[in-house]
Amino acid sequence: KYEKIWLTLGSASLVLFLLIIGFAAFWKGTHPQSHIETIDPQNVEAHEAFQPENLGLTEVEDGKFIVNMVASAFMYDFGKDADGKQVERIRVPKGSTVLYQITSKDVVHGFQVAGTNVNMMVEPGHISRYETVMKNVGEFTVVCNEYCGIGHHLMYGTVEVY
Ligand code: CUA
Repeated sequence: KYEKIWLTLGSASLVLFLLIIGFAAFWKGTHPQSHIETIDPQNVEAHEAFQPENLGLTEVEDGKFIVNMVASAFMYDFGKDADGKQVERIRVPKGSTVLYQITSKDVVHGFQVAGTNVNMMVEPGHISRYETVMKNVGEFTVVCNEYCGIGHHLMYGTVEVY
């Protein structure tokens, strides 16, 4: 008798989930963001956003920023500073709207800004984008959360909100 109740509940929730997925995918047209635009992983510079001089932080208007990055084994390329040194830290004022744009040159990487809601999969051939408001002051560590090889643990950076 109880089995019947649980079976019914189980099937009902399965049907409900399928309906929700179907609704989201076909009616609302929800797709992973990274599938909007493709890019050649052998030649990411062909895309304006990933040209060396456009990497890193750019203020597009007051309080609105874009961060362009290229992930590869085993680093995040945030571009170079005025002295030609590799940038490892992004600094934005509290309350900034930041659009993170990232692609990969080789394998699948992750891009997570720990302690925030920024968490993306970075796939070669695709551009992953996420826009968010950096509400809290602090230092947030960027980590790769997809195992990408022997130097996986070496992939990190910092986003500082001041
Ligand atoms: Cu890149 Cu793990």
